[in-house]
Amino acid sequence: HAADAHRTDLMTITRFVLNEQSKYPESKGDFTILLNNIVLGCKFVCSAVNKAGLAKLIGLAGETNVQGEEQKKLDVLSNEVFVKALISSGRTCILVSEEDEEATFVSPPMRGKYCVVFDPLDGSSNIDCGVSIGTIFGIYTMKGSDPTIEDVLQPGKDMLAAGYCMYGSSCMLVLSTGNGVNGFTLDPSLGEFILTHSDIKIPKKGKIYSVNEGNAKNWDVSTAKYVDNCKYPKDGSLPKSLRYVGSMVADVHRTLLYGGVFLYPADKKSPNGKLRVLYEVFPMSFLMEQAGGQAFTGKQRALELVPKKIHERSPIFLGSYDDIEEIKEIYAAEG
Ligand code: AHG
Ligand code: MN
Ligand code: MN
Ligand code: MN
Repeated sequence: HAADAHRTDLMTITRFVLNEQSKYPESKGDFTILLNNIVLGCKFVCSAVNKAGLAKLIGLAGETNVQGEEQKKLDVLSNEVFVKALISSGRTCILVSEEDEEATFVSPPMRGKYCVVFDPLDGSSNIDCGVSIGTIFGIYTMKGSDPTIEDVLQPGKDMLAAGYCMYGSSCMLVLSTGNGVNGFTLDPSLGEFILTHSDIKIPKKGKIYSVNEGNAKNWDVSTAKYVDNCKYPKDGSLPKSLRYVGSMVADVHRTLLYGGVFLYPADKKSPNGKLRVLYEVFPMSFLMEQAGGQAFTGKQRALELVPKKIHERSPIFLGSYDDIEEIKEIYAAEG
């Protein structure tokens, strides 16, 4: 069969989302249009990331001082592309980006009902060595008829959709619209994201933990105890393996597919951890829960946080259901 060698019924991300939205009779295709523009941004960044890798190879021949600037350029470039693609969709009203200090309010002719929070280039410090990086996004619906900052300070559980794109050995977009998690791989020859990982479920328990252990000196007792349990299990189980890329998208993607935990805990130097609530913690927590895992801050369910500022940070522990359950028990006992 030709179909054995070549996929002939292509479930593109657009077709997939149109199918999903057709379940809602009131849907007018606005979400599909918004998502198409996000997808365009991801394809652009994917291509830019590949070109940056090539530029770096050339740079090695002598132009060393360009490296830092080039990397910065990619952060700024990705941000510009997403901001412009989102505004031109005509479906957004507020944009919050890691790279912009203030939220962007879209003016009336182009204004729509969706608020988008995003990290245009995640793990950007990894670009120079060709390690996987990504883009993270979350989508809310405006509450009233006029956009206010409160519209993007909603708890993560009220997100309409969340996702990330990983620029790795292949380019993958992982998306949830609140009805499970699906993964799409970019077919570069078609320029289309094709459904390759349908209904992703995270294993109930995993064999991997992922954390920047260089910060161990400053951890709280509970984090230290949990990580110690990963290495020296008290219940006779095998120790976990350590994997840490240092790009949240890559570390969370692996956690989603293989199971285990990813943590960026609080420490004495950063009492709120490092990762930002709106465009890192919330979208990834949303995806984890939708895949059957959990996300915990050390105090509460991550998606129940109500942010007060757009660039607020929070400690985060996310991953397999049973592994996060263990962390919650330690925090409940130790405080
Ligand atoms: P960004 O590149 O968007 O600023 O995000 C960096 C984040 C995240 O990707 C990763 O999980 C974390 O920084 C790694 O931090 P450490 O280098 O402190 O481990
Ligand atoms: Mn990031
Ligand atoms: Mn970033
Ligand atoms: Mn950054």
